[in-house]
Amino acid sequence: IVILKDSASVAEYGANIFIKQLQKKADSVLGLATGSTPVSLYQGLIAANKAKQISFNQVTTFNLDEYLGLEGTHPQSYRYFMNEQLFDHVDIDKAQTFVPPGDAENPIAACQGYEDQIKAAGGIDIQLLGIGRNGHIGFNEPSSGLMSRTRVKTLTKATIDDNARFFEAGEYQPHLSITMGIGTILDAKKVVLLATGEAKADAIKATVEGALTAACPASALQLHQDAVLVIDEAAASKL
Ligand code: GLP
Repeated sequence: IVILKDSASVAEYGANIFIKQLQKKADSVLGLATGSTPVSLYQGLIAANKAKQISFNQVTTFNLDEYLGLEGTHPQSYRYFMNEQLFDHVDIDKAQTFVPPGDAENPIAACQGYEDQIKAAGGIDIQLLGIGRNGHIGFNEPSSGLMSRTRVKTLTKATIDDNARFFEAGEYQPHLSITMGIGTILDAKKVVLLATGEAKADAIKATVEGALTAACPASALQLHQDAVLVIDEAAASKL
């Protein structure tokens, strides 16, 4: 657990972990996340790419989750977010960027397909995570099986409310998602969770000091051999 002063320091520290990873292994398989927390980290990676400190041209990426029912061209889809926040600004081959298909005709088959793609890529070297106020990782809401794999998951009211800020009033907001499972996340060789702000303090306390329980999906990281939590003082305030 790395506790830093503020969100800017968290983003910089997190970006450096990814920069070192890419300098060590140019063809790394990265697990990526959405939400507001990783945005500054992505800006750090874009800057490092522009400064030629790192290249993405051999990198493969897998995103954690996607809204079910949104096409990748929808501005609230996570595919769109990733293009805007990272992929459009670095030298990555877009064909090597994978996000669960929110517009799949057969979502259940698509979940297995996603697992197969991760496996075919050789597994994830380093997985970036944010955390929901209720302790969710990806869209693994409380009560998610600790060994779960990529699947369709219903969102809780708390998560729908938290994410409503991104949708226009009256706009359709999905209640379902496709998310990597907790078991899928735990298979990554290294996991980096970022959390900032007081709103995350309860979730961080439950993750670090609470019991291993499906009631707090992030507590499953207690089982991982190489998991680092990079958090600011506000998110750490209840430890
Ligand atoms: C969404 C995503 C999560 C993310 C969470 C927190 O629910 N599915 O992966 O961690 O939001 O987002 P934020 O970083 O905006 O607080």
